[in-house]
Amino acid sequence: MRTIEVFDTTLRDGEQSPGVNLSAAEKLEIALQLERLGVSRIEAGFAAASPGDLQAIREIAKRVKNSTIVSLSRASEKDIDKAWEALRDAESACLHTFIATSPIHRKYKLNMTKEQIVERAVAAVKYGKKYFDMVEFSCEDASRTEIPFLIEVVQAVVDAGATIINLPDTVGYTMPAEYANIFTQILNNVHGIENVKLSCHCHDDLGMAVANTLAAIQAGATQVEGTINGIGERAGNVALEEVALALDTRKDFYQAITNLKLEEIARTSKLVSRLTGMIVPGNKAVVGANAFAHESGIHQDGVLKEVTTYEIIRPERVGVKSNRLVLGKLSGRHAFKDKLQELGYHLTQKELDDAFFRFKELCDRKKDISDEDIIALVDAKITNI
Ligand code: KIV
Ligand code: ZN
Repeated sequence: MRTIEVFDTTLRDGEQSPGVNLSAAEKLEIALQLERLGVSRIEAGFAAASPGDLQAIREIAKRVKNSTIVSLSRASEKDIDKAWEALRDAESACLHTFIATSPIHRKYKLNMTKEQIVERAVAAVKYGKKYFDMVEFSCEDASRTEIPFLIEVVQAVVDAGATIINLPDTVGYTMPAEYANIFTQILNNVHGIENVKLSCHCHDDLGMAVANTLAAIQAGATQVEGTINGIGERAGNVALEEVALALDTRKDFYQAITNLKLEEIARTSKLVSRLTGMIVPGNKAVVGANAFAHESGIHQDGVLKEVTTYEIIRPERVGVKSNRLVLGKLSGRHAFKDKLQELGYHLTQKELDDAFFRFKELCDRKKDISDEDIIALVDAKITNI
């Protein structure tokens, strides 16, 4: 079984979600929870972006002891100096430097030749190594880069001393088989690649971020980058909790797990949602309010007989107390009786039949049936008798 390391970028790529702006205190609160969750690396921000970001990274670097703290920086000495200023007090620090490699970015954004890109990438890694033992290099827009050029850049930065290579699907463009092939090509063609970590970083523009991440892991990626609740630029980054649970639930298939403390997932998700103001949809995998709720009578009956009929993840696994049987017009007698027992009622068969009939009548008038509705319904009848 392989252990995939988790690189969390909620505080950097996640904070790039439109409308999200975290204070230094809020960033620290999230970083401390990410440490509790067990992430290997926390990308705390982009030190050169603003004095506030630099200060927030500094605070996090001083307080977090069990995760490596990372700052993003462009491939420039000025940015790298700022990253070092932010990270020099960290117990464990990592520089994350990047430059775009794809033809579109080379031509329209950077106006640089391939040779200039390689030269800048190598110079940034070498400069970073003056301060940092751990240097991650990202080929921005890797998934739209010609594979021979990607191999050339990765070889050059590995030779220059990079310790983590990241191949982002920056615009969420790639498909799982294509993304896996990029990892296979890099693993087969870059000398010394076995001595560095190989990281995947997926965005969700086409809804493929989890599938692409899992494909990269199958192809040999050893680190996954993403955010809590999948927040991030445009359609967001890959949701780390979804990747972690996919691996945990299907370790038989992937032969890989993450090093996260899964019971901390619900708490982390709630904290990130509250502080960023980004609401988690009810039907979101793993952390949505309905992820462990059953509404139809057939499902409720199945779950009451044997939970694995309709639940592939036990709620306790991610820190949720229990599943929920939602009472509504599709609920069956079994779930209704179970709810009455939970509320302290032990009715005769006749009383139960009668209460169930009136419950169904109520369901036609009201969508959400609360415990109070059930109590009122049963008590009214008992009082009338
Ligand atoms: O998506 C991306 O390419 C990034 C890089 C800066 C790593 O976030
Ligand atoms: Zn990104």
